[in-house]
Amino acid sequence: MSGKCEDQFMKTFKFYRARVPPPPLSKVIDVDNAAFADKITKLTFDNNVEQDDRLELLGLKPFAHWPVFTIKKHPGLIFIRNPFTSHGQRYWIRKCLEKYPRKPNKTNIDIEVILEDWWETCYEGHKCNIQLLKKLRWTTLGYHHNWDTKEYSEANRNNFPSELSELCDVVATYLGYNAFRAEAAIVNYYHMNSTLSAHTDHSEINLEAPLFSFSFGQSAIFLIGGEDKSTVPSAVLLQSGDILVMSKEARLCYHAVPKILSSPSSPWNDNVEDIHTKDVPKFRYIYEKDVIVDMNSNQNNGNWSIFNGYVQESRINVNIRQVLNETQSRL
Ligand code: SIN
Repeated sequence: MSGKCEDQFMKTFKFYRARVPPPPLSKVIDVDNAAFADKITKLTFDNNVEQDDRLELLGLKPFAHWPVFTIKKHPGLIFIRNPFTSHGQRYWIRKCLEKYPRKPNKTNIDIEVILEDWWETCYEGHKCNIQLLKKLRWTTLGYHHNWDTKEYSEANRNNFPSELSELCDVVATYLGYNAFRAEAAIVNYYHMNSTLSAHTDHSEINLEAPLFSFSFGQSAIFLIGGEDKSTVPSAVLLQSGDILVMSKEARLCYHAVPKILSSPSSPWNDNVEDIHTKDVPKFRYIYEKDVIVDMNSNQNNGNWSIFNGYVQESRINVNIRQVLNETQSRL
């Protein structure tokens, strides 16, 4: 590819990455802002779509409260504007910090030191080990993405968290992807000066299955272009709770995060007095009891405060893929 072709994505990336002066945000598509109404199409789903009895449990609002859009210039890119309750946001943020970086999952820290439990190690002294806290950049779940070979393998695979796979299943089924299976995830941890450079996700055998991307904490400018870097990318504002689905024509498009932005609000702290406490005599799902215990614990602002401290200054993105074809159960 010629340097000239590559220019367009890189040019926009550099424009939004700038620190001094900070970039103007007037062209960053914000689905909440009526000024961008001509750039997006609101998708309506059949109102008869059955409520899923996992919604409340997984911290999701009823389907009728899910604003779903596509961005006209990027067919296949589906945007769901924060379908999470505040409890739901707290639950998923906490999972990403407390549970997902635990062994046997892999993290970027492994090349330096193998920590059984990163979060616990950060807090084991009298005060938080900020240096260690800031060191976590990614953790991988299920089939672990190999950053060098870019290949998945059976030898490099652990169980995919059941609650996360259920979350994806609810979203996928709602959008009509009934056969989707969550098999690999990368959880990205961003600080206010972090960026993620342009890339495509093509290591999966199954490139037809969509990719689901969940954002929590601080906001981001997300760039989405075409299948090569010659297309001028669009900039989209991603806020806490937003879900992006890269399907069909958008599945193999270049994307990047040139900037993290301070979120003007903290939706994970809204109306948390709406107690979720549930006394369920019989659990329907294997993860249900754990979810209820965690949701209840997160209502206590004392328990929640260390997680709150993290997301007030960071962004978390959970990126989920199906690796195998429908008929396969292993590589
Ligand atoms: C990714 O593409 O891997 C992450 C995108 C994001 O952080 O929104």
